[in-house]
Amino acid sequence: MHDTVGRFPPKGDPARENASRARTATLDLTERPRRNRKSEWARRLVRENVLTTNDLVWPVFLIEGERHREKVAAMPGVERLSVDEAVAEAERAASLGIPAIALFPFTDPPLRDARGSEAQNPDNLVCRALRAIKRAVPEIGVMTDVALDPYTSHGHDGLLDGAEIVNDATVDALVRQALIQAEAGADMVAPSDMMDGRIGAIRKALDAAGRTDVQIVAYAAKYASAFYGPFRDAIGTNAVLVGDKRTYQMDPANSDEALREVALDLEEGADMLIVKPGMPYLDVLARIKDNFQRPVLAYQVSGEYSMIEAAAANGWIDRERAMMESLVCFKRAGADAVLTYFAPAVAERLKKG
Ligand code: PBG
Repeated sequence: MHDTVGRFPPKGDPARENASRARTATLDLTERPRRNRKSEWARRLVRENVLTTNDLVWPVFLIEGERHREKVAAMPGVERLSVDEAVAEAERAASLGIPAIALFPFTDPPLRDARGSEAQNPDNLVCRALRAIKRAVPEIGVMTDVALDPYTSHGHDGLLDGAEIVNDATVDALVRQALIQAEAGADMVAPSDMMDGRIGAIRKALDAAGRTDVQIVAYAAKYASAFYGPFRDAIGTNAVLVGDKRTYQMDPANSDEALREVALDLEEGADMLIVKPGMPYLDVLARIKDNFQRPVLAYQVSGEYSMIEAAAANGWIDRERAMMESLVCFKRAGADAVLTYFAPAVAERLKKG
């Protein structure tokens, strides 16, 4: 990169004399922080945080079919992939050096019911994708979402009794869902449902099944957010969701509560934590890192992705710069890694150097 300022006109040039007069110190400053920003080499030398490909987890949407890809209208550049296409993308991700992907299914509407039974089917879309991906690309980490929303006819993450999401019966269902995912090859199970006590219950069941190796990545601080809108389009729950998720997902106004959620999830055996959404909750991420010194992942959610894409498509912001800036900000706030739909684009960009 070239410096755009600081080049002097030749000696004898009146512009040079003016410039040098302008450079004479008039303020008596002992510290001039701008000195460390004067050129690209200096900025590189003092840079505090860097984003690398090792920091990326790529969320991937699945759909039935073969050699089938479907655009997600609300997420330009994102597609739902049939299992064979997901395998091909997992191969691409691995070759780009992306450490892990996360799977999210679009469930055929006839398979959705009030209890989310398809979540317990060991041959469901996610399990088939897990087996195929782990067979073809064993070196990539695969994370699965533990929650009922892709499978319920009402779009909630848990079981309904009247208008209420019932906690403990939901936890039973989540435990069975996590077990079949582990059985199908999930390296990490990521409960995103926000029920109380689910981390401990899942850990206990995994251990009893001899799966002490499976990591639990807890969506410890997941907020009831408007920024999930495009994701719900991608997995087809927008159309069916009854009401909202505010009795289980957190109030955006709170952050002490996030620390309590994290403490509980760690006591129950979480290996890593997720804060979600990402950018509007950087303060929560920083507080969690400061208080717990455990691996924390930020989730740059669908709405954050789509806002950048939409503004860039209008020519209002520079897509690539906004993408890279948004991601290094997660690192600065304390994230160890970021779930982002930009993952392959970022990996390509980092490869270019
Ligand atoms: C649901 C789930 C959601 C997301 C991941 N898992 C949405 C929700 O809680 O309604 C959102 C991810 C995104 O917006 O990118 N278990």
